[in-house]
Amino acid sequence: MPTKPTPEMQKWCLDEKGQPRIDKGAENLCMDESEICFIDGFNSKLYYRGYNIEDLAKYSTYEETTYLLWYGKLPTRSELDSFSEQLRNNRDIPQGAYDLIKLIPRDTHPMEALRTVVSYLGNVDPEKEKLDLGSMPAKAIRLTAKLPTVVAALARSREGKEPIKPRKDLSHAANFLYMLTGNVPSDFWARAMDVSLILYAEHEMNASAFATVVVGSTLSDYYSSIVGGIGALRGPLHGGANEEAMKQFLEIGSPENVDVWYKENILTGKKRVMGAGHRVYKTYDPRAKIFKEYAKKAVEVSKDSKLRKIYDVAERLENLVMSQLCESRGICTNVDYWSGIVYYAMGIPIEQYTPIFAVARVAGWSAHLMEYVARNRILRPRLYYKGWLDLEYVPIEKRG
Ligand code: COA
Repeated sequence: MPTKPTPEMQKWCLDEKGQPRIDKGAENLCMDESEICFIDGFNSKLYYRGYNIEDLAKYSTYEETTYLLWYGKLPTRSELDSFSEQLRNNRDIPQGAYDLIKLIPRDTHPMEALRTVVSYLGNVDPEKEKLDLGSMPAKAIRLTAKLPTVVAALARSREGKEPIKPRKDLSHAANFLYMLTGNVPSDFWARAMDVSLILYAEHEMNASAFATVVVGSTLSDYYSSIVGGIGALRGPLHGGANEEAMKQFLEIGSPENVDVWYKENILTGKKRVMGAGHRVYKTYDPRAKIFKEYAKKAVEVSKDSKLRKIYDVAERLENLVMSQLCESRGICTNVDYWSGIVYYAMGIPIEQYTPIFAVARVAGWSAHLMEYVARNRILRPRLYYKGWLDLEYVPIEKRG
């Protein structure tokens, strides 16, 4: 006779009253202790290793922020110089990676192409056979240094252009922009990219960090773990939102269309405002505020009338979100709302926005991986089973 599991058989999924205790979306799951990042979602604050994101965006660089995330303290001058030097020396990718990039079909989504190339970099890493925690910081340096080169080469290959080799005399951010566009950026654009990488570098146990750590918790290799993170980041509910936000502004087209678009799409529940809402922030995302300042400056500096129009659309829509969704329902604009305008002003194609996010977030993924694996326990949650047990196996000829 078919049966169901007894409550005893899955008691870890039941509350005191014997009801299933399901945490859909793992919203209330506090899976470990950490010293990397704190999000104060009620007061619009974000801290990396105790430092306020506003200070890091004002005073730090991506290189310094990455050091902070991995080693838990701000570096001294000589520590930073040596760390930056290691990053510079590891920027170029093997010829095999350039060849592979050429083989990837041009219509492949850049995030899918990125995961393929990162996987390949794992195949040729000098310490590929090492799975231990001790080999991770060096691998993290190598991959963090190479990701901009890979993303830029993929972006150019997609347009039928030859890759541009990295330069050692530029900062991480300036070199990335140089390889993407072929031009050494002015201080303003280099700093805008740098700040964007700082803002995207880390964000606690988000879906892609979780995916990274799930893979790492099996004591799998560093590159497989990061590939897991890239896969999770690609989705429009996570990193893909920065591209969707930009497409949404372009779809609306003009500030006069915002109200009607909002009424027809958001008030009816047909669509979500992309770049709004967050699992943790129930107030304004502090990163959105900083990105907005840069978006505003980017519009002024670029003097591009099309960009001005996009900015005006975004601002009008944000006003509606903030007045109608933010206070009452905690759906406020997030980090992905304004970032696209900054990248658009840099002349970067929309489909590259999520790969840029990955270029930054490798710092956070690596930090969480190293922290978790240092006190590892395999991640293995349970499901509440609703189905039957002990069903009779009926031979295929006798099935109705
Ligand atoms: N626009 C309109 N409504 C939104 C919304 C948005 N951007 N985000 C959430 N909501 C609404 C949902 O429709 C839902 O309404 P309901 O209760 O009437 O069904 C409610 O808010 C809760 O949404 P839910 O999907 O359960 O929230 P979540 O915490 O699981 O999801 C996000 C968080 C980020 C996935 C979600 O806000 C979203 O899809 N945002 C757009 C994509 C985005 O910007 N992602 C980047 C995050 S940094």
